Amino acid sequence: MNPVMETIRNRRSVRRFRQDQLRREDLDVILEAAIWAPSGHNAQPWHFLVIQDREKIDKMSEKTISLMADSPIEWVRKLAGKEGYHVFHRAPTVIVVSGKEPGENLLFPHADCSAAIQNMLLAAESLGIGSCWIGLTVFLFGIPEEVKSLGIPEDYRPLYSVCFGYKDDSFVPPAPPRKEGKVSFYQAQKS
Ligand SMILES: Cc1cc2nc3c(=O)[nH]c(=O)nc-3n(C[C@H](O)[C@H](O)[C@H](O)COP(=O)(O)O)c2cc1C
Repeated sequence: MNPVMETIRNRRSVRRFRQDQLRREDLDVILEAAIWAPSGHNAQPWHFLVIQDREKIDKMSEKTISLMADSPIEWVRKLAGKEGYHVFHRAPTVIVVSGKEPGENLLFPHADCSAAIQNMLLAAESLGIGSCWIGLTVFLFGIPEEVKSLGIPEDYRPLYSVCFGYKDDSFVPPAPPRKEGKVSFYQAQKS
């Protein structure tokens, strides 16, 4: 298999990490992958906040869980009540990805940031680093004081988090099966 496809196929959402911190050179490769993502009109409307503070990561997890517990969505409430649940799966590094506010000249910040995130996940996999895209911090990012505490530049809004850490090789996450019937073709009729 070609190496890009191999990386794409092998990447899994990892939810168990070693506790040793990422080497700086590995983190730099992941961040480089992020900024080389495509973006609409080449806006590059992203910001990456790297958090490597155990206490801050744990506090963010606790606060998110307390907000999830009041969610109208049943599976979110259930997850919040799950014994031992940690929003960042106890990863040593969390990157908060923020996008500029959409406006007249900026149409797709969400998509641009998502492209950057996928690049980071694949770069991490290529280095043997586990990662997991975290959407549930949307609960935390709805609270202005929590956002302020992150010190993200003023005109950016946090959208997602991504957690990273070296993989715990004693646990290989199974690949969730892919759904069928997600591709169709529209082709010119041959006369
Ligand atoms: C937008 C988005 C949000 C996600 N949010 C979470 C999350 O909050 N917590 C988590 O553990 N996984 C999260 N995931 C990971 C998905 O659960 C995972 O990608 C999916 O189950 C498929 O598994 P795979 O990544 O191993 O292929 C998220 C993925 C995406 C793309």
